[in-house]
Amino acid sequence: MTAKLIKGTEIGEQILKEITAEVAEIKGKYGIVPGLVTILVGSNPASISYVTLKIKTAHRLGFKEIQDNQPVDISEKNLLALIDTYNKDNSIHGILVQLPLPKHIDEKKVLNAIDPDKDVDGFHPVNVGRLMIGGEEVKFPPCTPAGIQELIVRSGIETSGAEAVVVGRSNIVGKPIANMLFQKGRGADATVTVVHTRTKNMAEHCKRADILVVAAGVPGLVKPEWIKPGACVIDVGVNRIGEKPSKDDPKKMVPILKGDVDFEAAKEIAGSITPVPGGVGPMTITMLMKNTLKSLKFKLGIQ
Ligand code: GUN
Repeated sequence: MTAKLIKGTEIGEQILKEITAEVAEIKGKYGIVPGLVTILVGSNPASISYVTLKIKTAHRLGFKEIQDNQPVDISEKNLLALIDTYNKDNSIHGILVQLPLPKHIDEKKVLNAIDPDKDVDGFHPVNVGRLMIGGEEVKFPPCTPAGIQELIVRSGIETSGAEAVVVGRSNIVGKPIANMLFQKGRGADATVTVVHTRTKNMAEHCKRADILVVAAGVPGLVKPEWIKPGACVIDVGVNRIGEKPSKDDPKKMVPILKGDVDFEAAKEIAGSITPVPGGVGPMTITMLMKNTLKSLKFKLGIQ
């Protein structure tokens, strides 16, 4: 049997359509659109492509958008001052500082400087705390985990009472998705196990999973025999394993991406599975747009 493909590209597009309609409605009623700024320090190629896509999407949805690219040697003080300017800018509802930052800048200080009410990435300690409390307290769920939860829900996967296993314990994916899956509510109420580099018998844990979320950053880490037949497999890995000519422009080279799961073999065992690319990736940007819209709605008192 071949697993059902969970297509983030299609599900993400559907959500973007919903957002576009809401943006038009709010613009008509209140005369304001969501405003998003991305701050990129330096010229890491992966980071450039991520922020460019985020800004392009914001533009397409009718947001106000600013792509603020700063030189790699910007001082920490100037970066903090820049963030403060956007904190005070009433037309900006979402501030995103693309990570990683160069070594001379303290990432923690920078994330803490973003107004928690504009922290659409959900990385500020206040928002991390709100996520831990759960329910109504959550303002901005972090984008990748929120995207994963949306994929699971919109694919009709039952989470309540399900055994969920999360591979990886990063602040951006592993920790928050584990938390979100065991909270009460929609796309949650699962029994969650988190496995990591120090786990004994990682395979044994994975074999119990009805829902397996893999965010380890190790290409092909999860072997087909680790997958419970019929399980829902969410592959968060985006590993660049080489380059190939672009389909649109054969003279241009684009990265070859591989997930953390051996996809070809896994799809014969799983009940449903996300491809890489085209699975979780597009959902991260979609949820960023959703959080930015949410931020404006909070401000208007309509969320
Ligand atoms: N770098 C890799 N993923 C992310 C993300 O989701 N947000 C930000 N700001 N930086 C990232």
